[in-house]
Amino acid sequence: MEAQPQVKQRIFSGIQPTGNLTLGNYIGALRNFSALQNEYDCLYSIVDMHAITVRQNPAELRKACLRTMAIFLASGLDPEKNIIYFQSQVSQHAELGWILNCFTYMGELSRMTQFKDKSAKHADNINAGLFTYPVLMAADILLYMTNLVPIGADQKQHLELARDIAQRFNALYGDVFPVPEGYFPKVGARIMSLQDPTRKMSKSDPEECYIAILDKPDVIRKKLRRAVTDSDTRVVFDPENKPGVANLMSIMTALSGKTMDEVSAEYDGKGYGVFKDAVADCVISVLEPIQNEYDRISADKAYLEQVMVSGRERAARIAYKTMLKVRKKVGLAALTL
Ligand code: AMP
Ligand code: TRP
Repeated sequence: MEAQPQVKQRIFSGIQPTGNLTLGNYIGALRNFSALQNEYDCLYSIVDMHAITVRQNPAELRKACLRTMAIFLASGLDPEKNIIYFQSQVSQHAELGWILNCFTYMGELSRMTQFKDKSAKHADNINAGLFTYPVLMAADILLYMTNLVPIGADQKQHLELARDIAQRFNALYGDVFPVPEGYFPKVGARIMSLQDPTRKMSKSDPEECYIAILDKPDVIRKKLRRAVTDSDTRVVFDPENKPGVANLMSIMTALSGKTMDEVSAEYDGKGYGVFKDAVADCVISVLEPIQNEYDRISADKAYLEQVMVSGRERAARIAYKTMLKVRKKVGLAALTL
């Protein structure tokens, strides 16, 4: 069975529904999702199966899934143009994940830095799912014959592995999968923690380290005022020596469209209080409209339900076709229609 000719190139990306989505998720990923939705054929998934590689409270996870979907919609993703759905509702992710496990080496997986970080952080639960997490991610991407994957810099290594797996599979069975490319934001591919600007901003860190997309304006301002900078008043982009200031400058340039030079010319020497307030104004002006939309959408449960059902049906149709092909190539029993 041949793949359908695709008019538009295909995009796939996923976000884990754990905790609160952050400004890092927004700048590194979500913002690009809506920017790309007109030119590409896009699937955006709430990857709940990835989330359970770390122990989750079931009721919280369920809520976080819906919250994440409402944030996707509130940030401007059109559910008609894009397929927005929950990963676990399309069972072919798990099916292809298993198959690709058989084409991935232990050595490759043990080099993954996210596995090393997460197993250090969750030393009491270093489960096999945490280890094979990148294979499930490769399955997510390849299941839809994806060409382009918008992600932040921290996912680059996982994407490389997905490319290697695709190439390995193709070398054995002919051109089955396109080899996916990453799409990284020019500024803001790695937003750093407000309290330790040498580490990435992460939703699993303490509250004061990140700005959540749903943080109210006064909270955003307070967190930014307390962000770690340094002891002089220079606003210059020097990530090595001034990582805190460089991070705030990245946030501002990413959100305002101003260049680093423009930001520097405007705020250098004025004191960090003034600069931090300006960054807060900028962040609030972007997040406040999203929050208003979020409040509206999340009150409409019937609408969310409808997006969920339509997303999973549309995703499953594509996934089913891919699996017919993959199963045939590998030699598994044919599915009857
Ligand atoms: P996660 O929250 O780990 O599921 O990440 C979802 C998406 O957001 C991925 O594409 C990440 O690369 C991106 N992302 C997460 N944290 C950051 C950050 N601090 N800066 C830039 N992108 C990020
Ligand atoms: N691993 C990604 C993260 O933590 C989330 C993810 C899962 C993803 N599957 C994906 C991203 C497929 C892009 C494509 O950020």
